[in-house]
Order: sequence, then C-alpha cells, then structure tokens
Amino acid sequence: MTTAPAVAEVTPEPEPTPGSTPVNAPVRTSLPVRAGQYGRVQAERLVKRLVWSRRLRMMVDSLPAGLEDAGAWVVDPEPTAAERELAARIEGRRAQIAEATGTISSYHSPMPGTFQRAADGHALPGPLLPHRAGAHAKTGSKPAKGILLNRIAAGIGARRILELGANTGLSGSYLAASASCERLVTIEGSPELAAVARQTLAQFTQGADVRAALFDDALDDLAGEPAFDLAFIDGQHEGAATEYYCQRVLPLMNQQGGVVIFDDITWSQDMRQAWLNIVDCGAFALTVDFGRIGLGLLGPERPGGHVDFPKYLGRGHVPQRIGDN
Ligand SMILES: C[S@@+](CC[C@H](N)C(=O)[O-])C[C@H]1O[C@@H](n2cnc3c(N)ncnc32)[C@H](O)[C@@H]1O
Repeated sequence: MTTAPAVAEVTPEPEPTPGSTPVNAPVRTSLPVRAGQYGRVQAERLVKRLVWSRRLRMMVDSLPAGLEDAGAWVVDPEPTAAERELAARIEGRRAQIAEATGTISSYHSPMPGTFQRAADGHALPGPLLPHRAGAHAKTGSKPAKGILLNRIAAGIGARRILELGANTGLSGSYLAASASCERLVTIEGSPELAAVARQTLAQFTQGADVRAALFDDALDDLAGEPAFDLAFIDGQHEGAATEYYCQRVLPLMNQQGGVVIFDDITWSQDMRQAWLNIVDCGAFALTVDFGRIGLGLLGPERPGGHVDFPKYLGRGHVPQRIGDN
C-alpha cells in the first residue's frame, strides 16, 4: 500500500519576502541626530535626493526607445488608470484561486549547486511537491512586478511572448494584456496548475497557449515555430539552471531586438551569480538590472552595455507595491 504524500502547508515557491534584505543591498546606517543638527541633516538628505533623481532620470533616458516607461516604473511606480484596472482584475482572479480546495503539486526550485541533466541532456527539474490548491495564489506575480512586465512587453511591441513557469497564469496575464501581444506560449510542468493558468488567461486574452510539460521538452517542440520577441524565465530558480535555460531560449528569440527577462535575480547568492554571468556572457547587446528582475536585449551588435538601477535606487528589488518609491 502506498501512502499519499503529506500536503505541505507552506506557500509553494514563495516570492522573496517583501522588505527582506537583497543580497546586493547597501548596508543602511543611521546616525544619531543631536539637537540643532536636524535642519542640516534634512538639507543633506534633500541634496542627496536631488542628485540621485538627476542620475535616475539620466538612467531612464539612457534606456533604448520603448523601455523608458519600464524604467520610469522602477523609479516611480505610479500606475495609469488602465494599469490600475488591469491589476485590480488580476488581483480579483488571484482571490478566486485562493478559494480553491484540494491539492495541487508544483515544481520547486532545487538547492543551489544541484543542477543535473539526464542522459538525453535534458535538465532535471526540482522536486514536485503537493500543496493546498489555494496556496498557489500567493506565488504569482504581484501588481508591482506585473505592471513592470506589462510595460516591458508593451514598450518593445512584443507580439510573440514565451514564459517558462506559468504557475496560475498571473504574470502571463500581465504579459498577454500588453497591446501588441498576439500569442503567449507559457510552459508549466504541473498539469493541474496548467489547467488553472488556462482558466486565468482565458479572462485576459484569446492568444494564450499553455503547455503542460517540463521546460526542456516544451522548448524542443518550439524549435520550428516563429521567433519570440520576449521571453520571461520564471521557474527552477537555481543558478546553473537559469544559465542553461537562457542558452536554450536564445535560439528561439528574435535576434533583432528580442528581450529575455530573468526573474528573481536576487533570490539567492547563486541566482545573483547566474545573473552576473549572463551579463558577462556576451550574448546581449544590453543588459538592464531592474532590481529583482534582469533584462537582456538582443541586437545585431554586442557592445555589452549595462544599466544598473539598484546602484542608484539603493535597494535590490522592484517596487513591492504600487506607489512605493
Ligand atoms: C515561480 S512560479 C511562476 C510564477 C508565475 N510566472 C507568475 O509570476 O505568476 C514557477 C513555476 O514553474 C514551474 N516549474 C518549475 N520548474 C519547472 C520545470 N523544469 N518545468 C516545468 N515547470 C517548472 C513550477 O511548477 C511553478 O508553477
């Protein structure tokens, strides 16, 4: 007789805790303020902010045409009316998912340094673990990240989008809702989650194609299909796996302006190192560190430019909430 696996009560694949110290965050110091010093401290702070905002403005302006709105969002996450409405609809869907009963399994990110490939060369996934179905609602992208994804997709005019890691379809909804998106192919190894993602995406687009498969198997099948303008890699957050999937995705991309987005590049030291390796690998014409996500832009020339938002924002994550700055 086989025993059913215990249902874990923890949140599957939690997002890094909001407010947790990112690996590249500067150390914060606070000096005690003596009476009479208060005005001077305030003035110094103001000058610092003005200098920083000029640098941030220059940084946003240095982004390639189309990506300025995404850069502006990282600096000042003020949504448009349409973005606010989209986020409200997607959060409504998240609330529905949270009500689900029963058990659904998902693939977890393996421990750093454990990446392995099977005899056929395919990547082995992390462990498949059961969870309370409603708990998966917490995993999907929150509005602050979703709107950033939406702005990147809209900014580059992405028509064909590829996602590794559909989960319940929340980030996919932000991507597919961008004005130019005609097709979103999103891959999910858990068949039950793929079914949930299908239901989610049907509320936001008619162009979603959810494939219930391991990433590597689905990527094999995509080889003969038209190129993708944008890929979002958001699963199996382990350094070597991330670099591996980057290499697997690159030949499927539009080489003239295609964009690859890497999620959770501050998730662990190992993920941080993978991102730094990707920045240095020479595949991209430009890389942008937006904090928790990194972006690689493909182009005919490979000058290897790099834009580093956390350097001036002083924190290693994208805004956690609308209105954060
Ligand atoms: C972090 S979640 C994706 C969240 C989603 N992109 C969002 O933000 O709404 C990662 C998902 O990838 C799936 N996954 C992880 N490794 C996988 C693999 N090797 N093949 C297929 N699916 C995988 C997991 O089951 C999980 O649902």
